[in-house]
This record gives sequence, C-alpha cells and structure tokens, in this order.
Amino acid sequence: MEALKGRDFLGLTDLSAGEIQELLQLAAQLKAGKVKMQCSKVLGLLFYKASTRTRVSFSVAMYQLGGQVIDLNPKMTQVGRGEPVIDTARVLNRYLDILAIRTYEQKELETFAEYAQIPVINALTDWEHPCQVLADLLTIQECFGSVEGITLTYLGDGNNVAHSLMLGCALMGMNIRVATPPDYQPVADLVEQAQKIAAGKTEVTLTDDPLTATKGSQVIYTDVWASMGQEDLAETRIPIFEPYQVNEQLLTNADPEAIVLHCLPAHRGEEITDEVIEGKQSRVWEQAENRMYAQKALLVSLLGAD
Ligand code: CP
Ligand code: NVA
Repeated sequence: MEALKGRDFLGLTDLSAGEIQELLQLAAQLKAGKVKMQCSKVLGLLFYKASTRTRVSFSVAMYQLGGQVIDLNPKMTQVGRGEPVIDTARVLNRYLDILAIRTYEQKELETFAEYAQIPVINALTDWEHPCQVLADLLTIQECFGSVEGITLTYLGDGNNVAHSLMLGCALMGMNIRVATPPDYQPVADLVEQAQKIAAGKTEVTLTDDPLTATKGSQVIYTDVWASMGQEDLAETRIPIFEPYQVNEQLLTNADPEAIVLHCLPAHRGEEITDEVIEGKQSRVWEQAENRMYAQKALLVSLLGAD
C-alpha cells in the first residue's frame, strides 16, 4: 500500500477507514498465502514493558518477509541508563528502517517519532494499543464476513485497549458499548473523538451496566483490570470490577452467535472465566494469531515491499 509508505503508526486515527480496510484485506491475503511479499529491512523493537505476542508476532512477521529484527532491550541499551530519547531516536534513525516501541507515555512515543524520520509504530502505550486492534478487526471480519454494523461490547477497565477499540470501531462502522465501573471510564477526550467519528453512522456508548451493554452484542471483549504499570492496584480493583467479569451467565445476554475476544495475557477467574476462554465462543487464539498477519501487512505497507 503505497499511501502508507514512510508514515508512523502512533494511534489508530493515523489511518483512515479506507486504509484500515486495505490493510485488513492485505493481511487476509497474506494469511491465505494469496500474496507473497518480500521486505528485506531492519526492524528495531524497543520495549520498556513485557510482551509475548507483540514481540514475537512482529519478529516472525519481519523474518517471514525476509527482514531482520534487533531487540533493543532498554536494560541493555543506553536509553535505559538515561540517554535522552531525542538523542537515541536520532541515532537509531541512522541504523534502522523501522522502529516499534512499547512504553508508558504516548508523549515519549511521539518524541521518538518526531526525532526519527523512519516509521515509528506504537507497540502499546498507556494511551493506545493500535496494533492489537488491527488484529481484532481482522478476527471480527473473518468471523462475520465484514466488520460493518457489528456491535462490540468491551467490559472492564477503560484502558489503552478500550481506547483503540473505540476509535477502531467508530472508524470501521461498528457500534461499541463500553461497560466500566463509574470511576474507570475511558478518557473523555478520546470518547468524544470516537463519538465524532461515529456521528450519524454508528454508536459509541458508555455505561456502568454490564447487562444492558452485552444485550444482543455480537462481540464480547475484555482485558485485564490492572494494566502493566498498575500492578499495585490489582488487588483493590478485584471487588470493584467483579460485576464486569465475562462469564457464562453474562454471555447468555449476548447474541447466541457472539464471539469472545481478549487481547491476552488473561487473568482467568478475574476478567474472564476458564469456561469462557476455553469455551466454544472464544476466538482468542485466532485473535492472537492474527497479530502476525495484521502486523505483517502494516510492516510491508509502512516500509514498501522490495
Ligand atoms: N496482547 C498483547 O499485546 O500481548 P503481549 O503483551 O504479550 O505483547
Ligand atoms: N491493557 C493491558 C494490555 C496488555 C496487552 C496492558 O496495558 O497491560
């Protein structure tokens, strides 16, 4: 996809609806083996937080494209010892072709992108997790034939994943209902942004009632109640979030054909039960697999094929 070449992907709205649609199409073709692409470039992974799926799926995608990956573990690089981001970014820019960053503050990611001319990808910040949502959309498209008009219910914490889902659903013509405890709603500015995108087409709604939120919904989605960096709050949050657990009882409200998604890692017995994650409506393993294809399509589009 020529239009994406050289661009950053810092948040979902860096792509238009049409561009996301094209990326999903390319991802599906790559997955089906209908197209073969080569991209012999070098990807850097700078992750300040743990990762299994994002790290491995980006790496395998790059290797399969014929490229190389360098793990820039902050504990082993000078940026972890306090070398300024603006210096690190300008140096990495001269070595790498593309850089995926997982960090805390969105501002830090933006600073990297400002000082490095190569494409910079958000591999998760406290604000957004846009690569995850590309794979989520691909999974929904595979299950329902199209994403348009589908209603997704997100239950739990109004976190980075909730933010990207709201923007992704609004852009792609889906309805999204976000059910959280009253003090854990997504950030108001971002809700407003998603509602503006959806205006007159679909709905972006917030509620504290998990029952009305799930009624007739086709996609039930949850994530951890305490994200990376919030580990200290995990215990105190359990009783607050308990009513939002995705369990078999709650699922009976949803569309009988509803699928269940979770970005993983999951805390079984907290935000999702063992029965549901292992149950017949769960598509979490397909969803995790799709990270690789969505990101392969993203890499080849931002870099250009050989
Ligand atoms: N879903 C996701 O991003 O998983 P990792 O934290 O394992 O990368
Ligand atoms: N909200 C979670 C997502 C993990 C993939 C976190 O930020 O820890």
